[in-house]
Amino acid sequence: MKRKIRTYSGQKDTSVSERETKNRALSRRAASEGIVLLENNGILPIDPSCSLFLAGNGAVHPIKGGTGSGDVNVRDIVDLLSGVKNAGFSVINEADINDCINDYNEAREEYGKAVKDRLSKLSSDNDSDFFKAVFEIKQRPMKRITIDKEQAEKADAVIYMISRIAGEGSDRNEEKGDYYPDEDEISELSTLSECTDKIIVLINTGGQIDLKDIKGNSKVAALLNVSQGGQELGNAIADVLTGKVTPGGKLSSTWAVNYKDFPGSENFSHNNGDLENEFYTDGIYVGYRYFESFGINVEYPFGYGLSYTSFSLSDQKLEVNGGNITVEVTVKNTGDRFSGREVVQVYSAAPQTSIKKEFKKLTGFKKTGLLKPGESETLKITFTSKDIAVFDEESGGFIVEKGQYGIFAGNSSADAHIIGVLQVNDTAVIEHTDHIFPLQDQVDEIERPDAVIEKLTQKWKEEAKNLTPAVFVPAKEEKAKEGRRDLDDAAWKTAEKLTDEELTALLMGEITKGQEGMRDGVLIETGIYVPGAAGETTNILEEKYDVPSISLADGPAGIRLQKFYDVDKASGNIYSQGFFASIEGGLFANRIEYENADTYYMFPTSIPTGTCLAQTFDTGLLAEVGKMVGGEMEEFGISWWLAPGMNIHRNPLCGRNFEYYSEDPLLTGRMAAAITNGVQSVKGVGTTIKHFACNNQEDNRMGVSSNLSERALREIYLRGFEIAVKESQPMCIMTSYNLINHIHTANSYDLCTVAARQEWGFEGIIMTDWTTTSAGGSSPHVCAIAGNDLIMPGKKSDVEDILKSLKDGSLPRYTARKCAARLIKTLFQTLGMEDVPAYKDQFGF
Ligand code: BGC
Repeated sequence: MKRKIRTYSGQKDTSVSERETKNRALSRRAASEGIVLLENNGILPIDPSCSLFLAGNGAVHPIKGGTGSGDVNVRDIVDLLSGVKNAGFSVINEADINDCINDYNEAREEYGKAVKDRLSKLSSDNDSDFFKAVFEIKQRPMKRITIDKEQAEKADAVIYMISRIAGEGSDRNEEKGDYYPDEDEISELSTLSECTDKIIVLINTGGQIDLKDIKGNSKVAALLNVSQGGQELGNAIADVLTGKVTPGGKLSSTWAVNYKDFPGSENFSHNNGDLENEFYTDGIYVGYRYFESFGINVEYPFGYGLSYTSFSLSDQKLEVNGGNITVEVTVKNTGDRFSGREVVQVYSAAPQTSIKKEFKKLTGFKKTGLLKPGESETLKITFTSKDIAVFDEESGGFIVEKGQYGIFAGNSSADAHIIGVLQVNDTAVIEHTDHIFPLQDQVDEIERPDAVIEKLTQKWKEEAKNLTPAVFVPAKEEKAKEGRRDLDDAAWKTAEKLTDEELTALLMGEITKGQEGMRDGVLIETGIYVPGAAGETTNILEEKYDVPSISLADGPAGIRLQKFYDVDKASGNIYSQGFFASIEGGLFANRIEYENADTYYMFPTSIPTGTCLAQTFDTGLLAEVGKMVGGEMEEFGISWWLAPGMNIHRNPLCGRNFEYYSEDPLLTGRMAAAITNGVQSVKGVGTTIKHFACNNQEDNRMGVSSNLSERALREIYLRGFEIAVKESQPMCIMTSYNLINHIHTANSYDLCTVAARQEWGFEGIIMTDWTTTSAGGSSPHVCAIAGNDLIMPGKKSDVEDILKSLKDGSLPRYTARKCAARLIKTLFQTLGMEDVPAYKDQFGF
């Protein structure tokens, strides 16, 4: 094994590469597949020879994804105007839109200047939260598109796009202009409704908003959740509007009628003024599990989405094959005009016993290929005992209880019909577990009413009368597949040789470089080898031990890098521009004109946000997208992608929901596994599933304790991570900022060692989220004790703490070496080494 010598990332000119063109096409496909058609009175698809009138804030500035680390700095974004024009539409109010866009760009420049000015005055003593500083300064309101009634009347259709932005460090608000439409939006839509009944509304948000005002407008002919689809969003929207792509996306989270319908919504984050503790009183009743079991009507159910064509499901079969259960369904395109794809979702209803549970939960799903009118495809959807199991807090383990399980198939959680019954004759413990995260506070979980479930259960039992139950004997839950053992020895031998100083350096991100502008504890450390990367591992072991230093970059909507950087021609040194240059497209960067320097440019592709990707329900597509990202990681020299984000959509106001997939852990886990398998099919690169775990709130994200029962933790919040580990063995896991039951996740042995490694068989490394070891945060040496191998980005006080703890024995050297060995073994499989095999191959996924 030989260490690879790094080269500069990027290209020396701004020309468009073949890779960019190819990858943008895939990003566009993914974005169009993630669009969910919510309503259509027949106006769609619409012919591109039509004339359009565009309005709404999204028609001036669409949101491709949110702010913060989840943003991607791109060459350009295809907005709505460009998208529809590319498709051939004429836009009646184009001049006015362009005027508004120009004004927006000016406002943005002014905002950038104001933030830069503010940042230059920041001091670590009184303002350590960079994101807060950015949020406190507001960009001036955008100039809105004039609702010219004459033009709107003349147009063949009006497209009204509503956009919202959110991002890390702060939660959304149940306010006008965020969760609700604002006055302008309501009045503009009302004026437009005086002109035409051909209004198409596009929702360009990271998550749910209140739809009552929009749906209450009878002139709204179609409603689409276009989501936040990355830099090709405008083209993707046009593809769906014109019918080039038949919509096939499905909601990955429930859209409630009222915000207050979400359980615990009054207490979520800032809503109750308590940012220290979040009590998960909803327990396992998250998303559709709640709405269905409590009999609450919703606006749009989980898994819902219309098409331009229609489908029938037939010949459903349920088969038991050893420990596997397979549902077979034939899907037919019953329409006569459009080809399309349908998602079949399988749910199971477990017997209701003394362990009360949700009515049903998702156990599998699959999407058809593109079916022509009249064409059929038979799908096989397989699941296992764990998918129908329940966590039994009493005995500490997952059990499959005896009784009858109703198995449903359909195309949304609300439209799923009984297709078979499983009969389990004896309760089986399929997995013993140790208790983790004992509650420190009382959490009074809501109790579901029995009557709703009794009624639903009676209904399916009645419908299943003539079905012969298939006897199922639950099988023991397996751990993740084991990987290479051949590197263990070499990794351990190196780890054993390390001096305390070397060991310490390895256990944290690089702190000897990239310090420019860094204030201790403040999040401005950034990659220096690959500018804009979020961090690097140490390079001090390179010469002596051949352990490479590698780069890590965000995630999840592509790779977040600086758009350009300068290299001094004489020394070959890269000029650091600091953290600010790596966000918001470089808006806050202070560009310095260096003499005698080469400029390198980097143009990674921005892909749809996690939620939009999940709405595709297409694991094959996610694997393709992952492979594409993996290719770009290889090109830019990024070994670890700080993605995918996979926290659960517990409440729509969580500021980072757009980065995450779904309210459902199975969909979440499958999506994360698919994208990981794609990334890790490329040599030397891997994913970092994050934020482990219960990072469901952004306000006070570093201080809030998520207080919840072990059952909710295991069934809802850990389950997605478990699936991702078992189905894809990501190279890395990132622990979260929040605490769980008052324990910092990076300091939790229960989480890092017991759950991830011992129970699931995770083989990679675990790192902290950025600067979690700051004051009041996790203890650096306890990270290592917990099994959180790497502290990112690493700072002087972390070094001091680890060195001292090694010396006084509070961090046993053997424990630290174990973290080191895991790191070395994983680093040996990255881009830091010459010619490594793809990480995925060792596991046979
Ligand atoms: C975010 C992480 C991200 C990291 C590095 C943190 O603020 O929470 O998701 O990966 O920064 O940019």
